[in-house]
Amino acid sequence: MQVVRKIEINNETFEIRSCNVEETFQLGKRFASLLIPGDIVALYGELGSGKTVFVQGACAGLDVQEYVTSPSFTLIHEYSGKIPVYHLDFYRLNSVSEIEDLDLDRYYRCDGVAFIEWAERSESLLPRMRFSIQLSREIQHDSQNINFRHIYLKPPKGRDLTGLCIENFRY
Ligand SMILES: Nc1ncnc2c1ncn2[C@@H]1O[C@H](COP(=O)(O)OP(=O)(O)O)[C@@H](O)[C@H]1O
Ligand SMILES: [Mg+2]
Repeated sequence: MQVVRKIEINNETFEIRSCNVEETFQLGKRFASLLIPGDIVALYGELGSGKTVFVQGACAGLDVQEYVTSPSFTLIHEYSGKIPVYHLDFYRLNSVSEIEDLDLDRYYRCDGVAFIEWAERSESLLPRMRFSIQLSREIQHDSQNINFRHIYLKPPKGRDLTGLCIENFRY
């Protein structure tokens, strides 16, 4: 049985170690149980760092039945799960002005949750109240020589991640 290792680095930010795709998926799924309508989840990290895998896990947690893929070309995918899910991806964005015309409030202030891949490309337009998830593609090794990648989670003010607050949670 696999384990997602969690190390808290301060009161706000959690450092999670993910050893494989399944762990990142399960982390997303578990994280989804903390979400409520109106939540915004900004995902940061280079290509291949696991942003889409995390969103796929979160969508599974939100009972989305459709196969979730990155909306790199269309910018936005909408799914219906327990609550509406908006999956945005700004990878192909050249400048913030390209999305200024989109009615982002429709996704950011709504009855569902919004996941934003490549959030850094629209930083100035992101609501301040958001979860920030930073994923890394760099492979690290722990003391037992097990490979892992870092995932950092930061909740918005007034929210906590106690649902994830287990030293080692199993699935
Ligand atoms: N611990 C891990 N978590 C997530 N993905 C991983 C991990 N280790 C290797 N991978 C690989 O990295 C890739 C991540 O892809 P993806 O989620 O599409 O990245 P992004 O959306 O950040 O560009 C997948 O092909 C997956 O097989
Ligand atoms: Mg992606």
